[in-house]
Amino acid sequence: MEFLEVIRRRKTTNGPFLDRPVSKEHQHLLMEAASRAPSHFNSQPWRFILIEDQAKREKIAEIGGRTMQQLIAEGRFFERYRRYFRFSKEEMEAHRDGILIDQLPAPLRPFTRQIMGPSALGLLRTLRVPQILGQDNRKLIAGSPLLLAALLDREEYRPGELSGFYSLLALGMAIENIWLTTVELGMGIQFISTPMEVPQAWEEIKRLLEVPEHLELMALYRLGYLPSEPPRPRIDWQSHQRKRLSQFVFRETCATPEGDG
Ligand SMILES: Cc1cc2nc3c(=O)[nH]c(=O)nc-3n(C[C@H](O)[C@H](O)[C@H](O)COP(=O)(O)O)c2cc1C
Repeated sequence: MEFLEVIRRRKTTNGPFLDRPVSKEHQHLLMEAASRAPSHFNSQPWRFILIEDQAKREKIAEIGGRTMQQLIAEGRFFERYRRYFRFSKEEMEAHRDGILIDQLPAPLRPFTRQIMGPSALGLLRTLRVPQILGQDNRKLIAGSPLLLAALLDREEYRPGELSGFYSLLALGMAIENIWLTTVELGMGIQFISTPMEVPQAWEEIKRLLEVPEHLELMALYRLGYLPSEPPRPRIDWQSHQRKRLSQFVFRETCATPEGDG
């Protein structure tokens, strides 16, 4: 595939993957792509765990679903992230960032705005939104043939110091290389972030993965091959919109936004 085409087609997969293991060859290609990322002094501070074991995937899925349900039921999720939610194409077009909530079960649709609104916790709970999202998330993770943990070597990753920042940049670039490679391999990838938001849950995952003291667990992903016509989750969103050049690029100084044309 053309390189720019790969960049344009890279995206987050919200839906399920095929029930087919990711070949060892493809797993190693993903890891090679990661390792080709730049890093300060070629320090390669990233580490990865490839997780295929069913019991481990199910445990991580259980933790992912539970934390999703908890964060939503407690209102923390919507409180923290409300500013990124868009509810119509027009709203999305006006902002050109955030995520467009464009898929809701029919009984929820009349309440779209209220669901995500400031005083909607009671309604959310009545409509069982935390359970729906939690269950769907657990199923999506458990049904993903490959989970990937990204870690950093703590000798390099020293938060507050420049090497901490450099390590984060390097890991971000390594992960982007993996993400782009999934496009070439007909695969999809999605962040599993809710366990990170609940410190005890994150500790559970660290124990499950036997993360040693000298490594820091930074992020978790689910991966797999994409079905040709992927079904959408019951509650879903899309986020392919991007800002115009004039909204994020300047010419020479911050005083002059770049023109769009
Ligand atoms: C630091 C970071 C955290 C993210 N967390 C999540 C997440 O928890 N769940 C999810 O589905 N996507 C997550 N994403 C993916 C973004 O939502 C996604 O990249 C963005 O909406 C743009 O959509 P696209 O990747 O399809 O282009 C995360 C991305 C980044 C860089």
